[in-house]
Amino acid sequence: KLSAIDTAKFVAAKRACEFVEDGMRVGLGTGSTAAWLVRCLGELVEDGLKITGVPTSIRTAELARDVGISVTTLDEAKWLDLTIDGADEYDPELNLIKGGGGALLQEKIVATASDRMIVIADRTKQVETLGAFPLPVEVIPFGWQTTKALLEETIAALDVMGDKVTLRMDGNAPYITDEGNHILDLHLGRIGNARQMALVLNQIPGVVENGLFIDICDIVVTGNGNGRVQVKD
Ligand code: A5P
Repeated sequence: KLSAIDTAKFVAAKRACEFVEDGMRVGLGTGSTAAWLVRCLGELVEDGLKITGVPTSIRTAELARDVGISVTTLDEAKWLDLTIDGADEYDPELNLIKGGGGALLQEKIVATASDRMIVIADRTKQVETLGAFPLPVEVIPFGWQTTKALLEETIAALDVMGDKVTLRMDGNAPYITDEGNHILDLHLGRIGNARQMALVLNQIPGVVENGLFIDICDIVVTGNGNGRVQVKD
């Protein structure tokens, strides 16, 4: 029997599968909710659905292959019909914070190269204002401490509550993304102007990408522990 949180993730994933049609090129997200999606899609493929998946991480690529989904690269697929992914937070405008699982860079590239992006989530991801979840920023390892100092200076001048920046760790070593970069988590509490923040962060040398997804998500499918699903667009 599934826990309430897993039930919520599972029913959201299952509902999102209804948007997937034969012949589609589908971006496959990363994280525990996206893993439910990949497993659900795997079952549909077993029943005859024909899709090509473009994974957003090494983890997702492995899972997709395990469940029998044929995968390719974004460059091979060129453009996607649909991307389905999880999120750490979504606001009423369907803007997101992503990257809790460390895959924000590939996730953003893939979602942006898709006709539509659908987020699958449980209720806990819904917020009025983004920022309680620490905002992940992917930075190149070279000079990361200088990049961190610049980030601290930059966010101090913006409309936020907190200003702490921490290097994401994997045990005793810095976390390394699939692209060989580090992640700095910005503990902002509340982001007053997410659109401005997303643009300003990417101006800092050393920053590769940030976890704010602005105007990228089209639909959010939210699952509940009782099995109910809500679709918002
Ligand atoms: C991965 O980098 C993230 O963007 C995930 O999509 C996000 O962290 C949600 O993960 P869960 O579905 O595990 O909560």
